[in-house]
Formats: sequence, structure tokens, C-alpha cells
Amino acid sequence: MAISDEYIQRLLNTVDIESVVSPYVNLRRRGRVFTGLCPFHNEKTPSFTVYPETNSFYCFGCGAAGSTINFVQKIENLDYVEAIKSLSQRAGMQMPEDGYDDSLSKRRMRILSANREAAKFYNSILSEPRGEKVLQYLLGRGLTLKTITHFGMGCAPDSWDDLKKHLNSMGFSNEELYEANLVSRSEKNGKILYFDRFRNRAMTPIIDLRGNVVAFGGRVLDDSKPKYINTSDTLVYKKGRDIFALNFAKNTGSTQLILTEGYMDAIALYQYGFKNAVAGLGTALTREQAQLLSRYADEVVLAYDADEAGIKAKNRAIEILSSTGIKIRVLNLTGGKDPDEILRKYGRERFLSLLEGASNDIEYKLLAQREKFDLSTPNGKLEFLREAVKVLADLDGAIERDIYISKLSEEMNVSKDAIQQQVNELRSKRKRYKERERVRELKRESSGEGDRLNPARNVNLRAAKAEERLITILLNSPEFFGKISQSIRPEDFVTDFNRHIFTVIYNRLSEQRSVDLPLLTGDFSDDEMSRATKLSLQGRGTAYTVAECNDCINVIKQESDKKTGVKLSELSNEEFLNLFKKGNT
Ligand code: CTP
Ligand code: MN
Repeated sequence: MAISDEYIQRLLNTVDIESVVSPYVNLRRRGRVFTGLCPFHNEKTPSFTVYPETNSFYCFGCGAAGSTINFVQKIENLDYVEAIKSLSQRAGMQMPEDGYDDSLSKRRMRILSANREAAKFYNSILSEPRGEKVLQYLLGRGLTLKTITHFGMGCAPDSWDDLKKHLNSMGFSNEELYEANLVSRSEKNGKILYFDRFRNRAMTPIIDLRGNVVAFGGRVLDDSKPKYINTSDTLVYKKGRDIFALNFAKNTGSTQLILTEGYMDAIALYQYGFKNAVAGLGTALTREQAQLLSRYADEVVLAYDADEAGIKAKNRAIEILSSTGIKIRVLNLTGGKDPDEILRKYGRERFLSLLEGASNDIEYKLLAQREKFDLSTPNGKLEFLREAVKVLADLDGAIERDIYISKLSEEMNVSKDAIQQQVNELRSKRKRYKERERVRELKRESSGEGDRLNPARNVNLRAAKAEERLITILLNSPEFFGKISQSIRPEDFVTDFNRHIFTVIYNRLSEQRSVDLPLLTGDFSDDEMSRATKLSLQGRGTAYTVAECNDCINVIKQESDKKTGVKLSELSNEEFLNLFKKGNT
């Protein structure tokens, strides 16, 4: 918490926000700001704006906002202190070590180092007699020692506590290992027993983009169930957030990634020379993962299993990926159930030719629809065309649309104009719907209805607006504070959310400390910070006056008095008298 203002100021003078953001967002300069596609929600037109002057960002689409520090926190999923550490590293600055509470980041560090030691342990077991069975299993799957080493695979011995004992001897407590999800626990006669979570399994470490071992997957050696056991969510791992092998694939220089369902497939692909192979991790592809992929690639080739579940997962992945704007191609796996099986059966060349024959997502979607209908009947043809029009209306590029419409008209022997007209109709219908939604949203916003961050805003609209304006003014013209500090206190604020924001500003200005946005990061919750950023930006470049502050203060007090008036019965005598001193009517 208490990293000094002076240090943060110095840090943010050294690293400019646009260079922190630009690895994640393709930024374009527009006068004094930069804009790009928001990395925190899916959009096709840029609403994400970076303000170098205040070291802050704001997304007009989803409302994500804050300082450089918030950006690093959000995008790399770090806490406050970790984000400052990461920025310091980049700036080559030494962060002052004491005086802040970093218990959470210390716990994270402990988990990461326990995981790293566990990975080393599992790997070393492979060269011992107790690891022979797992080694034979991996070799039996056609993996070479080189591949096994590259991915840091290993063996969880067939024992209750080999790993636990090993890590205990290195100074890790059972509680720490439990928090890392490396050991499980059970209670017997009031006594807690700890034992290894992974036993008699082939282990694969899950490594994040920074090279940390964040989790493990363990596979059984036979057909028993469950086939895989994975690390559950911990302080350093969240299901659906990471992509397996992206840490390797991102360095290959390829702008294409091959995405598989299972990490064993990605490992096999790697061994056969496809070093740009990655895998999801046991969940349906999430938006977070899709965003991550789109940050590192221009094109994703889906190499999902050929079975029914795989096709379902593939369709879902196409939907999610298309909203990121990334190019998608879809493999039609034949001759085996998954990439691993196909490679082992037919080798590299076969997979290469599958890659060449991959259809793009539009072709794939049209094919998938075509399979549903009997095109030899007029009715089936009609139904197919109706679905095809829906697929084509999704295409935003006019030329792209034209190409597919031409193709479809030839194949189905239907006039091009007829298809074109249907597609256009559907597109304008969708556009009208979107515009209506947008208007509704704007109305909701301006009436203050449903303000997620400040639920009290709606019922106290007059007060809330005055509160917000006062915050805006003080963030932009803190020099007015001296003139108004006697006439307003945080207690006067009507809505709790704004009061929290104002309290921080009030306390800082009372202590003659700066209220530069980035300095507030450590004092605010995420929500408070994004609101403060929004309010601050609203006042950019406006010349305010003290009179305007006083207008706001008067409104806040009137509204606040109205509210206290309702609760007269709850007031103490002294508070009651105070009400009249204020000149309440
Ligand atoms: N998975 C899981 N738990 C299971 C089964 C699967 O977490 N009981 C996850 C694993 O992350 C696995 C992925 O789903 O990588 C794909 O599953 P599957 O297709 O069954 O795995 P394969 O890669 O084909 O495994 P193998 O070749 O070892 O049979
Ligand atoms: Mn498989």
C-alpha cells in the first residue's frame, strides 16, 4: 500500500504508458491521445484510448479505465505491488523494499517456487527406477527424450507422499503445498492428513507466458478414470485463462497458431516440427483465451478432435474467436481421432496436407450448414440458403461478401441478386436492432439507471451528479481545494461510492499530497479507480472556477440534508442541534 508517491511518479516518468500498452494493443496516434481495439472486451472499432499526459487509459466501450499500473494489473493479472514491480523491472529501477503489505504476492511467490521445485522433482523421477513405468508410457506414445525434456514432463511416483516429503525437506509447509494444490488433505479423527494430489501419473507442467510453472496436468497410464487430473484454481492459476505452450509458440516468429483440444496433441505437433502448436486446457475455449491468442497471432488454425464433442467445441471456438477479429481456419481431421493419432499413424506430411486443405471459417460454416440439409429437394435447398444468408450477413467486408455470394449463387444455381438482396436485408435489420440497443443504453446511462459501480446513483441523481462534478474539478484543478476545504467534508456526500472516492482525494489534498491519477491507484479499488479515471478525463482541458465548486457543494449539502431529514429520530441531541446550525430549512 505505502509505496511512496515520489517513487511512483519517478517510475511513471520513466515508462510511458503507450509503450506499456502497445505490446497488447495496436495503437494509432490521434492528436494527443492513442486509440486501439480494447484488450478487455471484444470490439471491432477502437474505443480504447490512451492518454499519455495523465498516464491513464479509458475504454468508451466497456468502461475499463485506470492508470498504467491498473493496465499492467489487469492485463497480466497481477496485484498492485506486483504490477509496480513489473514496471520497475522494465524501467531498470529498484523498488523500495519495505513499508508495504505484500503478503498476497509473497504467497504467490511461494506457490510458484513450490511448483517449480515440484516440476524438477517429477522430471528427475523419470531417470529413477520408480519412474520407469511413466517413462516407458511416454516413449510408448512416440515421444522422444528431447520432447519430454523440452516440455519438462515428469513422473508422479506411485506413492502417497514422495513429493510432499521432498518439498517439506526444502522448507515448504504442508499448508503452502495445500494452497499450491500439490497436496490434498483429509480429516481423520480430528487429525488432518496431507498426501500427494498426483500419484502414479505422467505429469505435464503448465507454464505461463512469463515462464512460471502455474499448474500441472497428470495423465493415468492406462484406461482408468479420470484420464486427467489437473491443478484446481489457486492464487496463481485460473482455469480458462492460460493457453498451453503459448510461452514457446510465441517465440517462433510465426503469426499463425495451431490450436488443439488436448495438450498431448500440441506436444506431438511440436515433436513433428509444428512449433506453433498450442492447446486449451480442458475447458471450452474462453473469451480470455481467445483474446490471448489474438494478441500473439493473426491466424488460428483449429485442430480439434474429429468426434462429436470436438465438433461442438470447434463451433463454439469459432464463435468466440471471430469476435476478436482474428483469422480462423478449420482443419478437417481425417484418418484419426486427434492430431496426435494422425501424426503417429501417417506422419508429418499428412498433417501438412491437412493444413493446406484447411477451410476458412466462412467456408467451414457453410459446409457445416450444407451437411444438415438434403440439397436434392427444393425445400432442403431453400432451408440451406436461408442459413447460408445468415452466415454471409456476418461478414463485414463488402468484397468478401461479394466473393462468397457469387460462389454460392453458382453452386446453388440461384440468381446472385436474390442472395445479395436477402443478405442486405438481414444486415440492415441487424443494424437497426443494434442502433435501438445503443439508444436504450445511452438513455439508461444518462438517467443513471443501473449504474453498476454506484447503485445509489439512480435514486440520488442530483446529489450524485454534483458529487461527480466536484470530483472531476478537484482532480483537474486541485489548487481550488484550499478555498473550499472548509465548506465540504466526505461525510456530506450522499452516495457511498462517491464518498469513498472523495475521501481519498480529500485526505490527500488535506495532507498537501498530489492527486495525480496514477498515484491514486493504490488507494482505490478497481471500480473506484475506473470511475475516478472517467471523471478526471471528463474535465480534461476545461477551465473551472471556485464558484463552480461551490455550486456543487451547495447541491450536495441540500441533498444530504434532505436525506438526514428523514432520519431525525435516529439523531443524537447534539447532531440534531447541529442540523440547525447548518442553516437547514
Ligand atoms: N481433460 C481433462 N480431464 C479429463 C479428460 C480431458 O482435463 N478427464 C482435458 C485435458 O486437458 C486434455 C483435454 O481435455 O488435454 C483433451 O482431452 P482428450 O481429447 O480426451 O485428451 P487427449 O489429448 O486425446 O488425451 P490422450 O491422447 O492422452 O488420450
Ligand atoms: Mn489423444
